[in-house]
Amino acid sequence: MGLKEQLQAWASEITAAPLNSAEEVEQFRIEWLGRKGRMKDVMAAFKEAPNEEKRELGKLINEFKQSIEARVASGAASGAEDSGSEKADHDWTRPAGGVPVGAHHPLSVVRRDIIGILERMGFVVSEGPEIEDDWHVFSGLNFPEEHPARDMQDTFFVDRAPDMLLRTHTSSVQVREMERRDPPMRIIMPGRVFRNEAISARAHCMFHQIEGLYIDKGVSFADLKQTLLRFAQEFFGADTRIRLRPSYFPFTEPSAEVDVYWGLETEVDKRITKGTGWLEILGCGMVDPAVLEASGIDSREYSGFAFGMGVERITMLKYQIGDLRAFFESDMRFLSQFEGEF
Ligand code: DAH
Repeated sequence: MGLKEQLQAWASEITAAPLNSAEEVEQFRIEWLGRKGRMKDVMAAFKEAPNEEKRELGKLINEFKQSIEARVASGAASGAEDSGSEKADHDWTRPAGGVPVGAHHPLSVVRRDIIGILERMGFVVSEGPEIEDDWHVFSGLNFPEEHPARDMQDTFFVDRAPDMLLRTHTSSVQVREMERRDPPMRIIMPGRVFRNEAISARAHCMFHQIEGLYIDKGVSFADLKQTLLRFAQEFFGADTRIRLRPSYFPFTEPSAEVDVYWGLETEVDKRITKGTGWLEILGCGMVDPAVLEASGIDSREYSGFAFGMGVERITMLKYQIGDLRAFFESDMRFLSQFEGEF
């Protein structure tokens, strides 16, 4: 048999070689390509071949060697997958590997928890539009035309419609609800809000709020305080303490900001509470009679309270997150940490 025929015979041997495990692949590699391997014999036979056949034989030998290398490479690849276990591929009863599933976004987790607590107190959820008119965001809430309070909220206006803007707070939904329904009403209004702010660790041009509104006969400041205390204790823990600080909003009178007691034990506590131990979580107050009247509710018969909180702020407090931008950067390493909360 000439070398050419011999090569053909070996080639079928190569394709037929059973390479089912990493060891078999390695043995095969040593047998053919090793320092004393059979490839050596092939080359020796090539040397002996008549000169006029060398050109054709050289090409065949090259292809032959490549087919050996290809088998080693593909055998090694499949061997690595089942980590050398011969039978792993054929164990049809083996449980499937886990399928990676997504996690709930931390803001969704917190929004759900806040809404859950307030729903159990009898509030119902309602939503309003993100693109609003001046009336629902400002004028209907007692922000006079040239009042400096409008500057408190840097607003994105819609170029083509001078009266339209991206709502700067969810308080706009209060106005819609008061126009739409008759009291009594007990509503919470979650949603996105927009402000023309430079993005930093503490501010963003888009964030989330949850607004609350309760209107009935004889609603008092004591009802407001008790509702918020109950909310804070359900959300942050049963022994949570709160305090109310006088504040100003055009649509409530009197107005307050609510702080929860955070503690002063660690350096971090001192830093985030600016040395006071208290952290602000929301704004609130008794709905200003002028606001009730503007929406057609008789303020001699009805009174109410309102509150508004930032979902990002409360999430940062609950999970001790230092940078607001993390919520909007879609980094799975951050987002997947809240999975366990479900
Ligand atoms: N709208 C206010 C803000 O965005 C928050 C707020 C304060 C809402 C007092 C209220 C309220 O309903 O009564 O800063």
